[in-house]
Parts: sequence; C-alpha cells; structure tokens
Amino acid sequence: MSTSPLRVGLLGLGTVNTAVAQRVVQHAQLLEAHAGRPVVLRGVAVRDTARQRDIDLGEVIVTADAAALVTAETIDVIVEAIGGTDPVLPLLRAALAAGKHVVTANKEVIARHGDELGALAVKHGVALRYGAAAGAAVPMLELFDNALGGDDITSIDAICNSTTNFVLEQMGRGGLTLDQAIAEAQRLGFAEADPSTDIDGWDAAFKLALLAGHAFGGHVDVDLVRRRGIRDVTTADLQRADEMGCAIKLLAHAAWDGSRVSLSVQPTLLVRGGHPLASVDGSRNGVLVQSDLAGTTLLTGTGAGGDPTASAVVNDIVITARDGAAGWRPVPQGSLEVMSADDAECAAYVRIRSSGGAVGDEVAQMLEDRGVPVVSIMMSATDEVVVLTGTAPVSVIANAMDTIDSMPVVDRVLACLEVGGKV
Ligand code: HSE
Repeated sequence: MSTSPLRVGLLGLGTVNTAVAQRVVQHAQLLEAHAGRPVVLRGVAVRDTARQRDIDLGEVIVTADAAALVTAETIDVIVEAIGGTDPVLPLLRAALAAGKHVVTANKEVIARHGDELGALAVKHGVALRYGAAAGAAVPMLELFDNALGGDDITSIDAICNSTTNFVLEQMGRGGLTLDQAIAEAQRLGFAEADPSTDIDGWDAAFKLALLAGHAFGGHVDVDLVRRRGIRDVTTADLQRADEMGCAIKLLAHAAWDGSRVSLSVQPTLLVRGGHPLASVDGSRNGVLVQSDLAGTTLLTGTGAGGDPTASAVVNDIVITARDGAAGWRPVPQGSLEVMSADDAECAAYVRIRSSGGAVGDEVAQMLEDRGVPVVSIMMSATDEVVVLTGTAPVSVIANAMDTIDSMPVVDRVLACLEVGGKV
C-alpha cells in the first residue's frame, strides 16, 4: 500500500464540501490513522473565488478553473458536492478519464449516469464512490454492498429525503405552512438549491434508484419510479393522521418479485408503533430492508446537512486512501425490469367530505362491490369520513376514487394516500 499522501481536490465549497475540507484540514492525524497514509487537501474549485468563506484554507489552491483541477497532476481524488448534472457530468467524465478516483455526494448524476461513469472508472482503473448519495450519514448503500451480500433482498422501504420529512412534521405538529417549513429547511441546510427537487419527490426517487440498483443488481431508470411529492398533503391530513396514531411520510418503496422491481415514492400513512419508520422524524432518515437470511434490518440516522453528509464523504476518501480502486463495487450494469403501475397493489387512506346522508355505508358498499376490502370507517369531523381500505390494485382504487367523487352523498374526495405496512 502506498504511504505517500492522498491528494484531494474539491469541486464546490458549499455546506457539504466546507465540512469535508474542515475535517481533512483540521483532523489530519485522525484520517491518517484510519487510512494508513496522510490525506491532504490540495485544491478547491469554486464558481466565485472572491467570495468570503467560513473556512481558512491556508495554502490550498482555490481556483475557478474546475476543468483544470479535475485533470491536475497534483490531485489523486476529486470530491464533488456541486449537485445536479450540469456542469458536473463532463467534469466527472474528465476526472475519471484522467485516472482520478471520484467521490461524490451527488445522487442525481449517479442515478442518471452512474452506469456510464462506472464503466469509465473501470476502464481507467479508478474508483467511483458515492456512499453519501443516499442517506448521508446512514450507510444505506453500504448495507447492500458490504453487509447483505449473501442475502436475497425482497423489499426496501426508506425515508430518504430529510427536507420533506422535516416539512411534513413542521406542517403537522409545528403549525407552519408549506412555504414556511421549506424556508426553515433551507435555513438548516437540508433542502436542495431548488427545493422543488425535494418537494416533488425527485431527490427521493434518485436515491431509491441507487438503493434498488445496488440491492437487486442492475440499473434503474429513475423516470419509471411511480412518483408523487408532498404538495397536496394538507395540514388537515397530517392532523387526522396524528389523531389516528399515524404519521404521513414521503416513503420510497422498492420490491423485487424475482424478475421485476416495483418502485414508488409517495406520501404514505404509517402507523406509529406499528411501522418502524413511522417514528423516524425531523431530518432523520431510515431504511427498512427485508431479506431471506437477515430477516428485517433497520438503519436510522441523520440524512442531510453539512456534517452528516461529510461523514459519508470523508469515509469514502479514507477508503480510497486505504484501498484505492480495490474493493470498489462498480455501479450495477444492465437494466432492471420495472413493474408497471397497473400491476401495483396498495392499501389506502381516503378522506371524504360528505354532502349529507349515510356516506360511510354507501362508500363502503361501493368499495366492497369492486373487491376493495374496507378495514375501518371513522367520522373525523361533522361532515368528514375517513376510510381505510385493505390491499387492492392501485388502478382499482384510483377508479373507485373517481366513482366516490361523483356519488350524490359525497361533496368530494379530500385526500387519498397509500398506507404502508399493516393498519
Ligand atoms: N435535500 C436532501 C434531503 C439533502 O433533504 O434529504 C440530502 O441528500
């Protein structure tokens, strides 16, 4: 093993890479002890070199020329935390082609281009590591690569977007509006530069594509994830859920039937005390995995923010210093077949505003007639009814919602959410 220093170049100096730089510069002895060789920061590429930073970088070169940094002779590993694909993708291609290892926290570039970048890394004998891309400090991808390697994995449920988890909690229990809660998530450094990436479920879909890819061994087309964000979740639903002993979470779900994977990201009702992810609150993330040998595995921890994300990034730097490209598992090649939404099944929470009459009885009868089991019916306000159904095809439930909406005893369907686990 080499004993010469591993020379690090950073792309971007936002919340995450500032925390990475602090760790590398201020904890050099700790990293050397873990890596078996020194790790030194040699260069940083930023858009605006004149901007005041919260960190003293001493003699480290700060440049606006990212293209030069990624091919510099003086750099061994490029650490990217800019986010998105532009201008990141060409920079990572250039770094790998120049024989640099790459460490990134960027879920989008890996979800969309990980197969291409992985092949490039293999071709040039370097590693492409992205442990921070899903779950930040929660080692979700590590679980599939280095813990459950001998298991047949059947399903993954994950809370993997801190912004929406925090926002839903603040709207339900904190009394904030959606916009106020998003502004708070931005202030705390959880939200993406464009928070609609979080709110509309894209960030969770990118992460789910990575988790499913590693768990089931193939590339997942992120555009095939059945995706619904949290924009139409109302304070009323969050409060009803709370009264029922439940929580509404943006849940990422993947299941493998032996030949096809079903994938969804959507607001989901979880029973507190019944579903292990229901109590994963605030900026915390969690992943629940079912597999044949291990059974049920649950990991939780902090899923966003500078220090927790830097924890995973610096771990990848340390592994790169220690092992180089050895032990690195290339991004799974070949595409997984994704199950169509028409084949998916779910249980549902339905909140209905009545226009008078025996709305509960009539709705229950209509659902039963269509083969949708009714688990419970509750009056939730003077003119509102909440119905919980058992499992039925998603398309049957969607059609039933249209029918309920047009029933004379119904004013309108106020909400329809999937239910996770048993109710
Ligand atoms: N915006 C992301 C989140 C950051 O809220 O989870 C961490 O990937």
